[in-house]
Amino acid sequence: MSSAVKIRRIPASETYAVRQPVLRPGRPLLECIFEGDLSPETLHLGYFFDEDLKGVASFMKKQNPMFFQPFQYQLRGMAVLPNFKGKGIGAALLKAGEAELQKLDASVFLWFNARNYAVGFYKKFGYQTKGTEFEVPGVCPHIVMFQQLGEEEIIDHETFIPHK
Ligand SMILES: CC(C)(COP(=O)(O)OP(=O)(O)OC[C@H]1O[C@@H](n2cnc3c(N)ncnc32)[C@H](O)[C@@H]1OP(=O)(O)O)[C@@H](O)C(=O)NCCC(=O)NCCS
Repeated sequence: MSSAVKIRRIPASETYAVRQPVLRPGRPLLECIFEGDLSPETLHLGYFFDEDLKGVASFMKKQNPMFFQPFQYQLRGMAVLPNFKGKGIGAALLKAGEAELQKLDASVFLWFNARNYAVGFYKKFGYQTKGTEFEVPGVCPHIVMFQQLGEEEIIDHETFIPHK
């Protein structure tokens, strides 16, 4: 990473400048405020180029009942400004977030509701889909994606058959 580039923790309020144009274009700023934004357990990361914010990602401690893993985080608000897409910023934010969460627990389970057109991005980093697509009204179809980070073996509890 060049010295002009930095990824650092930012407050929730700083994410809105990227969330709004990328994820809620033309919509009120209020729609960019997510439940859990202000939780002390939430990690907001910003990617800066020459001190200008170009991308954001937020990681929130939240259990999804579809999964049984005890330590789960949800990725939300992954967004890169349009002119800066395809330059490795999303990848860098995802990897930095994974590394930060693994300092809390090496086998953190990360899940999220992915926009259907971003599924290919996450698959590049080992994430898998679960279930079927569902519509987020006013946004687009989404699908749940997940990855067990760390050493733990992935067990799909729908198909897991215990040894007798
Ligand atoms: C999706 C997004 C976060 C990816 O960030 P990015 O900085 O553009 O992606 P990167 O440059 O880090 O790409 C990493 C790799 O993923 C690929 N990739 C990026 N976006 C992709 C997509 N939508 N589908 C498939 N592959 C994708 C890149 O080609 C690259 O592949 P390579 O390593 O083989 O060259 C960004 O494009 C974005 O903000 N999109 C609009 C909002 C959005 O969809 N957010 C996700 C909501 S779930």
